[in-house]
Amino acid sequence: MSASSSSGSPAPTVAVVGATGLVGETVLRVFEERGFPVGELRALGSARSAGTRVHFRGKEHAVEEATTERLRGADFVFFAATGELSRSMAPAAAAAGAVVIDKSSTWRMAAHVPLVVPEINPGALAPFGRTGGIVSCPNCTTIGLVMALEPLRRAAGLAHVTVTTLQAASGAGREGLDELRGQRSALFPRALAGNVIPQCERFQESGYTTEEQKLSDETRKILALPALPVTMTCVRVPVAVGHSAAVLVETEHPLSPEEALDALRAFPGLSVGSANEYTTPLELAGRDDVHRDDVHVGRVRRDPTHPRRLWLWTVVDNIRKGAATNAVQIAEELLARR
Ligand SMILES: NC(=O)c1ccc[n+]([C@@H]2O[C@H](COP(=O)([O-])OP(=O)(O)OC[C@H]3O[C@@H](n4cnc5c(N)ncnc54)[C@H](OP(=O)(O)O)[C@@H]3O)[C@@H](O)[C@H]2O)c1
Repeated sequence: MSASSSSGSPAPTVAVVGATGLVGETVLRVFEERGFPVGELRALGSARSAGTRVHFRGKEHAVEEATTERLRGADFVFFAATGELSRSMAPAAAAAGAVVIDKSSTWRMAAHVPLVVPEINPGALAPFGRTGGIVSCPNCTTIGLVMALEPLRRAAGLAHVTVTTLQAASGAGREGLDELRGQRSALFPRALAGNVIPQCERFQESGYTTEEQKLSDETRKILALPALPVTMTCVRVPVAVGHSAAVLVETEHPLSPEEALDALRAFPGLSVGSANEYTTPLELAGRDDVHRDDVHVGRVRRDPTHPRRLWLWTVVDNIRKGAATNAVQIAEELLARR
């Protein structure tokens, strides 16, 4: 550690792997916005971006190629690169004492790795103390879903969840944005501009995509409800930033829309609208007068065909709360425990 944080303890040495990517650059912005203490910053990327520069707290930082050596001595390592890189480099960094906060899907379902949304299951971080280890950050779509489900679960239990997601191009990284803008092709299975594609990532034998599998597996792990029936279709839409979802929730006990709204409004990190109120991805990602790090929940209404079912509309900024902000919140939670 070096320099000093506001608590008087030395500010951590922080490495960001993938600092040139959409999520990594947003991690740096979120550090600035939230005043996260950073003693030394190591901005890392691939050999392609080595020598380029990123801006942080008024200074330029040279990007270096990510190597195991460059992670040595870091207190926090944020992995926002590829799953393969996390697989090959995260264990050594954790063994050397760093807390690794991984944005890829590599470690999410590993039994020994906590999968954390700090508003929901901060207790999963308990084993960390002062030692290193890997913490996994959920999929951006999962974070939007579980943030809306948890208050309803606490109020009335969950019996069944059906969800159709409408996912932005940036969920596939900078190349996804480029493809939406027509600057490249072939990342998505069909043309995205002016279209909707009912396939996010690749199909498995089950007929569900890997993205759909992640949404169901991760939701059950975070909520600690391993048998919760969660079924979904994930759709790519020609939106730059912001994953939306239409969610049909069946609760175990009766819950009126008014009671659901009360439960949602009392939960941190949510902006809540009633039956005819909603936020769109364009509003969430493009305006200063909305809470960009909140998950926005609206159109809360009863399913007229079933006494214990409610419909919701949710929107999450996939780059911020869906990725960077959640990762920084995990680090804040760990620092607060030290
Ligand atoms: N985008 C989202 O909405 C979202 C949400 C949740 C989780 N995630 C996850 O977050 C991670 C980053 O996503 P992103 O959207 O930021 O992607 P991105 O915009 O494509 O950025 C990828 C980053 O990874 C770096 N990288 C790639 N290969 C590397 C290598 N071999 N060694 C070192 N660095 C390497 C790139 O560096 P160069 O610039 O040098 O190529 C770049 O900084 C992924 O695991 C993704 O699944 C993304």
